[in-house]
Amino acid sequence: MSFSILGTGKAVPDYILTNDELATIVETNDEWIRTRTGIEERRICKDETITELCVKAAKEALDDAGITAEQLDLIICSTMRGENLTPSQGCMIQKEIGAKCPAFDLNAACSGFIYALDVADGYFVRKKVKYVLVVSMDNLSNITNWKDRSTCVLFGDGGAAAVLGEGDDLLAIHLTAAGNDEVLRIPHGENSSPFYEHKPEPALLQMMGNDVYKFAVTAMPEGIRTVVEEAGLQQSDVNWVIPHQANIRIINTAAAKLDIPRERFFCNINHYGNTSSGSVPIALHEASQAGLLKKGDIIALCAFGGGLTTGSCIIRWCK
Ligand code: COA
Repeated sequence: MSFSILGTGKAVPDYILTNDELATIVETNDEWIRTRTGIEERRICKDETITELCVKAAKEALDDAGITAEQLDLIICSTMRGENLTPSQGCMIQKEIGAKCPAFDLNAACSGFIYALDVADGYFVRKKVKYVLVVSMDNLSNITNWKDRSTCVLFGDGGAAAVLGEGDDLLAIHLTAAGNDEVLRIPHGENSSPFYEHKPEPALLQMMGNDVYKFAVTAMPEGIRTVVEEAGLQQSDVNWVIPHQANIRIINTAAAKLDIPRERFFCNINHYGNTSSGSVPIALHEASQAGLLKKGDIIALCAFGGGLTTGSCIIRWCK
């Protein structure tokens, strides 16, 4: 016995940064960004804090699941950088929604939502929990290098939440990590110690885009193949793939390597860009809200990101 997804919720900032506005900040243009990435606009935090967004997504997911914050047994927040180093973002969510359960953060970059599902699975298997809240939220605009046109056009802020309850709808899950701080890295940025001898680098995202691209177009189909097989299914059984929204060309290339029709890959990258760990659950929530997911549908979730990490799973939709 593991879990079923009982409810989802989403929160993105109000401010829409279009490609045309970005072209006033760095030397780029709408045509380059659209054709190379599929992104048309992204959301950027102005007055919203990451805690406010987490709480909004969490409350929507609780309402959707029909349970209260007091019923939660665990909160996991996947994020690369919460409001504070401590308390954790999970504890901030717990405080603001009025839950009483343990709460913590998990960082697996863009694969964070699927890593969090895997951790939650362990709690269900050990029968420690009845209801778990997973919130995946990142605020990458804080650590974007707004002078680097090869990265600042790619990312956006936002995330989503899912309420998990006892059930048997997680059919397979597979995580990987291949430690690599060369192709994608965000340094801490500061060190207050007068004794430390290394010069801190600014907390800005650094990425070798082509290397990440090559990694992703292999890792994504591999991850999906693995979990389809572990679940005892055929690729043709998959009704929807909810892929990490990093680049539409990565999704197209991954789709072409699989026996799953391209129309079954849900995409909303045009509106949000890459929201890191928020990306997969935002897409899951929007696919659900659009009425695309039917009870009993087989859904493959798949993500890759800094670490380098990947996460893939097969879920049967139970709503
Ligand atoms: N606007 C206009 N030109 C740009 C640009 C921008 N925003 N960014 C880069 N360019 C230029 C480059 O300077 C280069 O010019 P040059 O040929 O004169 O040197 C040219 O466009 C091509 O650059 P290249 O890096 O080869 O582009 P690409 O087609 O490989 O696309 C990425 C670059 C970043 C979009 C692509 O590699 C990618 O999506 N990688 C994966 C990134 C990712 O998913 N990261 C998140 C992981 S979770």
